Amino acid sequence: MSPSDRAGCSGPAGRSGPAGRSSTTGPPTPAGRAGPDVRRRRRLLTRARTVKGFMPDDEGEALFEAARQAGARASGAATFVEIGAWCGKSSVYLGAAAEETGAVLFSVDHHHGSEENQPGWEHHDRTLVDPRTGRIDTLPFWRRTVEEAGLGAVVVGVVGDSPTVASRWGGPLDLCFIDGGHGEAPAWADLRGWSPKVAVGGLLAIHDVFPEPADGGRPPYELYLAALRSGEFTEDSACGSLRVLRRVRPPRRPVPGGGGGAAGSDAP
Ligand SMILES: C[S@@+](CC[C@H](N)C(=O)[O-])C[C@H]1O[C@@H](n2cnc3c(N)ncnc32)[C@H](O)[C@@H]1O
Repeated sequence: MSPSDRAGCSGPAGRSGPAGRSSTTGPPTPAGRAGPDVRRRRRLLTRARTVKGFMPDDEGEALFEAARQAGARASGAATFVEIGAWCGKSSVYLGAAAEETGAVLFSVDHHHGSEENQPGWEHHDRTLVDPRTGRIDTLPFWRRTVEEAGLGAVVVGVVGDSPTVASRWGGPLDLCFIDGGHGEAPAWADLRGWSPKVAVGGLLAIHDVFPEPADGGRPPYELYLAALRSGEFTEDSACGSLRVLRRVRPPRRPVPGGGGGAAGSDAP
């Protein structure tokens, strides 16, 4: 399927009933793990819909499904990382999958918003401004979201600059979800910093991938193309602007400082 040939949801994540609509189908539950609590899953996915954020419901459920599959296929307890948490919408989708599969989600955000969230920009929300500092601060909102969802045991907040965290992050990832800064520099920094950490067989999910320029900004789409072109990833599923890729080859050349890999090699 060509990158510009997408509509709706396709691939493993899109096919499976995310909210348990098709009972508990999907990958088998690994030996020794309890089966999914479908009512709890439904409650979490319903709650995720109500959280302030930028992710349509079908994309959120496709993200949940991708993470659930990544958690289920891991031989031990899986590690998920999301870049860009905002008020915790995607954290609930991913956290629900983490809880169900015994994984842990590390949710990375400095919580001061991206460029487009700053005053005067399209996605500014003045209710998220800390009156003491005058800056956007989504951390209290994120924390409340995670606590109210009852996901505190499996969702760990990492408050800081994504490339800095990536440069010190050692372990392999079963799933990495990139939804941080959407400008050219921050988006490429996230791909360079985080994609080499995705284990072979693990998933790299990218949000806001718009093949048509009229639909949205270029960088996430360019990241997606670069990851595919590298030959290190193949496409696993697509839903709306969410693309889920699977690592099929190890990174070609690790670069000191946490960046590198072929997925970053044709960055501007
Ligand atoms: C599009 S929002 C994330 C939306 C979220 N995934 C959701 O489901 O609602 C992008 C987030 O990336 C964060 N961000 C942008 N640049 C960052 C950076 N360099 N390091 C850490 N977080 C960053 C912003 O603070 C913002 O919360």
